Amino acid sequence: MSDIETVLAQVDADLDSSLERLFALLRIKSVSTDPAFADDCIACADHLVADLKSIGFDASRRKTIGHPIVVAHGGPEPENGDGPHVLFYGHYDVQPPDPLEKWQSGPFEPRIVETPQGKRIVARGSSDDKGQLMTFIEAARAYVNVNGRLPIPVTILLEGEEESGSKSIGPFFAENKDELTADVALVCDTGMWDAETPAITTRLRGLVHDEVFITCPSRDLHSGMYGGAAMNPIRVLSKVLAGLHDTDNRVTIPGFYEGVSELDPEIKAQWDGLGFDEAEFLGDVGLKIPSGEKGRSLLELIWAQPTAEVNGIIGGYTGVGSKTVIPSVASAKLTFRLVGEQDPAKVLENFRAFVRERIPEDCKVEFSPEGGGAQALQLPLDSPHLAAARRALAAEWGKDAVLIGSGGSIPIVGDFKRSLGMDTLLVGFALDDDAIHSPNEKYNLSSFHHGIRSWVRIIDELAKG
Ligand code: BES
Ligand code: MN
Ligand code: MN
Repeated sequence: MSDIETVLAQVDADLDSSLERLFALLRIKSVSTDPAFADDCIACADHLVADLKSIGFDASRRKTIGHPIVVAHGGPEPENGDGPHVLFYGHYDVQPPDPLEKWQSGPFEPRIVETPQGKRIVARGSSDDKGQLMTFIEAARAYVNVNGRLPIPVTILLEGEEESGSKSIGPFFAENKDELTADVALVCDTGMWDAETPAITTRLRGLVHDEVFITCPSRDLHSGMYGGAAMNPIRVLSKVLAGLHDTDNRVTIPGFYEGVSELDPEIKAQWDGLGFDEAEFLGDVGLKIPSGEKGRSLLELIWAQPTAEVNGIIGGYTGVGSKTVIPSVASAKLTFRLVGEQDPAKVLENFRAFVRERIPEDCKVEFSPEGGGAQALQLPLDSPHLAAARRALAAEWGKDAVLIGSGGSIPIVGDFKRSLGMDTLLVGFALDDDAIHSPNEKYNLSSFHHGIRSWVRIIDELAKG
């Protein structure tokens, strides 16, 4: 058996223990957005440090102003020139499991569910991102178990705040530039094309968050005594929000489309040729009519068009029964997905100006002090690392990898280039029906197994140069 076949055989033989290790990680409630789980995030980082040490990594838990970051170094010294030095990034934090009552079993009690299509690993974080980051760690383990070491220098960086804004990692990059800089960043936090077809993600949408608070009367009022006299902030807010899109579903904020260009015809033809089933994609979530700009394909809408989305509305009486009230305050949380060269700061500014213009004279508007965001990203298509990943994925899956875009965002990926000067290779094994961020999140056992094998092959191809 050639070297790599032995490593792949080791992955197959070790799959049950790999699963046990993933389950142990999934049992830790590392919800980053809720301070009540801060200790679980520390426990999760410690767990990963111990696991990485067990396979010979020089691993440590690093303090930040938020949840800890795990950094680990393995393989040969970068100076020895053994292949490219890679920085693998993943996030150990997860989204809150709510709504709990929609889960068929405990979100932090991982289990295998047998379905006609195969075995599924069900738990919060199984797909996003614990199952995915473990595909890389298990691939590293197989190399170490078979050969005693990795063939190339590997730094592993695991963040605990991806799902809640990645506040600590920017400053962490600035302070640890030398330690973190490698030849290329590898990220396993994206999806496949479908369950049989691997994919490399070459574009990510950017993201801007904002929260708007509208105050009309200075206190909650009786809606009979004051109705017709006092302006209701929910009325103001809903009019503003309803005005964000025109009848063609285009966003109406002036300047919003600055930096958005029409898709290159070659790329459009490629995407049209993928055979994406629009009816099935929407049908799977009980819909049939696209919500984006009329006349564009769904892939274009998700991968290459921006959005303005209201994520939540808060205001007035929402308890049982009825209450005749004119509330004092109404608020909404919004996010904007960005593409192309759209500037996050300008999008925020233009949105806020749009709102201010629509507030009646004696009402008041405020915005959450934070805001800010991440620009969209397009990765180079001609790098040797991408070529290596294509060869590896084709060998593992028996099919060429599709180059895809992503509707989602991984804000930190931009910083790999900006702060550390590295390009990123995004290879993931999640599927659209994994229900990430939703109840009953799952990861296919096949994604986990072939994901581990894919990394073994990618590392091998990178080592060959
Ligand atoms: N892994 C996802 C991003 C993703 C989703 C990539 C689907 C490819 C396909 C990531 O963990 C995520 O959820 N990102 C957030 C951003 C964050 C600031 C909350 C997102 O996209 O909403
Ligand atoms: Mn993720
Ligand atoms: Mn996520």
